Amino acid sequence: MSKFYITTPIYYVNGAPHIGHAYTTLVADTFARFYRQLGWDVYFQTGTDEHGLKVQREAEKQGITPKELADKNSSLFVELFRQMEISYDRFIRTTEEDHYKTVTEIVRRMEKNGDIYLDKYAGWYAAADEAFYTEDEIEDGRAKSTGSPVEWVEEESYFFRLSKYQEPLLEFYRKNPRAILPEVRYNEVVSFIEGGLKDLSISRTTFQWGIPFPGNSKHILYVWVDALTNYITGVGAFSDPERFKRYWPCDLHLIGKDILRFHAVYWPAFLMSAGLEPPKQIFAHGWWLNEGEKMSKSKGNFLDAFALIREYPLDVLRYYLMREVPFGNDGNFVRARLIERNNSELADNFGNLVNRTFRMTQRFLEGEVPTAKPSDAAEDVELREKAFNCRDAVRKYMDAREPHRALESIIGFSAHLNQYVHQMAPWHLNKKGEKERLAQVLYNALEGVRWLGVLFYSFIPKTSRKVMEALGYTDIEAALSFDTLDNFGELAPGTKLNPPEILFKKMEIESKKPEGEEKKSNNKSEKKEKTSKGSDSKAGDGLVTYEEFSRLDLRVGQIVAAEPIKKSKKLLRLEVDLGEEKPRQVIAGIAPHFTPEELIGKKIAVVANLKPAKLFGYWSEAMLLAAENSAGKLFLTSFEGDIEPGSKIR
Ligand code: MSP
Repeated sequence: MSKFYITTPIYYVNGAPHIGHAYTTLVADTFARFYRQLGWDVYFQTGTDEHGLKVQREAEKQGITPKELADKNSSLFVELFRQMEISYDRFIRTTEEDHYKTVTEIVRRMEKNGDIYLDKYAGWYAAADEAFYTEDEIEDGRAKSTGSPVEWVEEESYFFRLSKYQEPLLEFYRKNPRAILPEVRYNEVVSFIEGGLKDLSISRTTFQWGIPFPGNSKHILYVWVDALTNYITGVGAFSDPERFKRYWPCDLHLIGKDILRFHAVYWPAFLMSAGLEPPKQIFAHGWWLNEGEKMSKSKGNFLDAFALIREYPLDVLRYYLMREVPFGNDGNFVRARLIERNNSELADNFGNLVNRTFRMTQRFLEGEVPTAKPSDAAEDVELREKAFNCRDAVRKYMDAREPHRALESIIGFSAHLNQYVHQMAPWHLNKKGEKERLAQVLYNALEGVRWLGVLFYSFIPKTSRKVMEALGYTDIEAALSFDTLDNFGELAPGTKLNPPEILFKKMEIESKKPEGEEKKSNNKSEKKEKTSKGSDSKAGDGLVTYEEFSRLDLRVGQIVAAEPIKKSKKLLRLEVDLGEEKPRQVIAGIAPHFTPEELIGKKIAVVANLKPAKLFGYWSEAMLLAAENSAGKLFLTSFEGDIEPGSKIR
């Protein structure tokens, strides 16, 4: 059986969890769930980094002991991950007994290998980053890369012969070009190593909160030696050889880009020195901004993780974070974007598909999975092909660490299934009494929904579970296995369905800041300024903000029927497919410009959330967009090619 060992960084306990912590952990959870679905032996570790100067100082500030601070804040992370339903196997704390032993042992081995010597350190240190900096890495008393204040340190210190590992590291990375992802990070690390590695100070004598250097307790080990070692503690290094052999080397260390050097240079060198293998892969993701702004203590604009999960349904937040940015890039957390994705992709696309499929099965087939004859109809063949392609794409993209692409494929398949249902129009089949075809179409729709439930699981697990329950499964774990996608046709005819509640509720764009989110000031003028800044617009100049614009629901609609309205010279009655259960009726004043025949089949731009209005006794349920040239000729905004009805126009 394949194994998959995945880790998150262990988080400092000097403060409360924010979106950065939640994000890495969610991504790790997604991968862990995915490989479990494949039936792999997954081990997923997260936890807290509790030693070091930074934690000691924060404890002093709060007038408590470092251990008290660690206990308090570590339990906040445990609680956050409980609420986020993170499926970790171990939550490790660096103050735990087995970790202490592992750290002592790895350092002993490094020493035994001749890689540690005692000398004097004189240089700059930033407690906020727990990092040493050279003269050219600082400016005006701060580290250039992080902006953290540095202090001059001069003391006796043990050193690790990092310089000795320059060549072995380069050799390792040349042989393993995918050991660091994305590629840009790989290149960064390789050129850093090529630039020359200096020996690393790995102990301090001026603070106490940490693990003592073995055999010389005057020295406390550098917190990164201690922290990085958590990754092997959890899999039984030096204590459980069988377990260690099973899980080590780690398959994926997920980290943020700011801690790449520690992971991709120091950590593999420590391991090599101790005679252990380097990790197989390190993925450094980007940073989240809050509505366009960098988050910082001084700005007080950290996105509090607890507040976020109180404000949004967990699956919506998971979906947004995984979908919004290509994995590895920086992201901008914009509430309006989250809501828009919720409304259009989760509620309108997937949620609506599930909802109407179940509703029609209730209505036309007494709520049971129908018995359907095998079908070679072109649309059915195409649907099955799309399903298999999507499954293969998801597998490929997850292995390639491109979860955003996997998600894109899944939502694309969902859109296709919507279109299939729409084209096959079960309501017409029912009306015409075409029972056999109706059964085939609804069977395919339900089976497609099952596929989506399985494919979506690692991203939106709660929703997938609901879908499986709705489909009548009792052993949900088994139903979620990827193996169930070997065959398009797993649903057992005759199964009684339990239609689910609405999966995703639409949200209003004007959303308030979550309670609890730190903010320096709350007065209105500041809020206003922020909105306009975030959306590149100035108030009062006739421009609309992004939020205002995004209230318009603009969609691609396909005209499926058109006819003149009696007694009106100008109006046509159109039926426009917006990828919904039924086409919408649109009354448009375009009769002088187009014949009904030339309109049918056209894909046009439609405002889908305009208040319905009655014209000539007919309700118009949307509006189409057109432009007139100077000669008074009308042109419709239209789309060519492979774009599904209902696609959002932005
Ligand atoms: N304790 C060390 C890690 C030791 S691992 C052996 C540490 N802890 S941390 O709590 O400061 O940061 C943990 C993670 O949060 C890092 O991966 C960092 O990149 C990530 N983030 C912090 N702010 C972030 C954003 N604004 N956006 C995304 N992730 C960010 O470093």
